[in-house]
Amino acid sequence: MVASFAHTVRGGSLAGELAAREPALAARLRHGLEASEERLRGLAAEAGDPCVARIVGHLIGTGGKGLRPLLALVAAEFGERDPGAAVDAAALAELVHVASLHHDDVMDQARTRRGAPSANALWGNSVAVLAGNWLLAKGARLAAELGPEILRLQARVTNRLVAGQIRELTGASSGEDPLSHYFAVVAGKSAALIAMALQSGAIRTGAPADTVEALAEYGEHLGTAFQIADDILDITAASEVSGKEQGKDLAVGVASLPVLLALADGGPAADELRELLTAAGRGREDGAVVPRAMALLRGGDALAEAEAMMRARLALARGALGALPEGAATRVLYGLCDVVADRDH
Ligand code: FPP
Ligand code: MG
Repeated sequence: MVASFAHTVRGGSLAGELAAREPALAARLRHGLEASEERLRGLAAEAGDPCVARIVGHLIGTGGKGLRPLLALVAAEFGERDPGAAVDAAALAELVHVASLHHDDVMDQARTRRGAPSANALWGNSVAVLAGNWLLAKGARLAAELGPEILRLQARVTNRLVAGQIRELTGASSGEDPLSHYFAVVAGKSAALIAMALQSGAIRTGAPADTVEALAEYGEHLGTAFQIADDILDITAASEVSGKEQGKDLAVGVASLPVLLALADGGPAADELRELLTAAGRGREDGAVVPRAMALLRGGDALAEAEAMMRARLALARGALGALPEGAATRVLYGLCDVVADRDH
């Protein structure tokens, strides 16, 4: 099974350090994650109809890796109320994430997600989209229960997610810098929800407004770094490790950051890559395009350049943490920057 971020707290690299140094926080996060997973399963079971329950249960079971719930629970530590108040905010962030991933799999024509067949592969595109919408509607109800501020955040983040995906599909406008376009897409499709998870967790426990703001800034940078890592892993990680098909972005002609950087580097390799991607974008992927594009990317400097950009974003994320009070929760947020830097799945 593909390891998860929840695993970093339960048994991964951060876990040992956390349990040794901050056993009370480690236990709270562990319990919070379990409670949020339980909440998600409970929401899926509310479907009533066994067929719908099975499909939305599959979506939840093969969705996110638990990063967003973890962030909501850590952010809750900055307020005065019981961090348990953030369990529903943690579940909400995961619910929106899972809904978006299954829509994304339809758009990408992905066959697997987290090592299991994707919902679209099992039930077709229409059912996968509708089941994702079902989850999104559950999320709206949950957000309404959490109050108007969180409901507004949920609505705004859904708009940003969709706008990010639309901008990815439409590509850079004429005259628009491809890298600015890329970062606008990533802010919408990845960073927005990571920031929202942190904000909503902190709001639930009554954290001060400047803390909520610093957490949002951290989340925007961490989320961007996280997506850059995802782009790099699409080219470098084996399917067994990532739980996804290798080179999927390339196969559907998505201009990920390494690709944009390789194209900007110019020369014959860039020309060949451009041709391959144009063929893939037109649905002419014949099985030879992805391996050749990967070989071109691996042979150039673009992967190292993308990694440098990811590290620069992580430095900005760490910078935002300077505004937070020192303590175990802040240290966990620093630690998560290292986890993202070392991502292999
Ligand atoms: C994964 O990107 C995709 C996202 C993080 C966002 C997807 C958003 C939508 C489809 C908009 C609709 C949203 C909702 C809430 C209905 P990726 O393809 O780079 O990552 P992957 O490698 O995990 O597929
Ligand atoms: Mg995708």
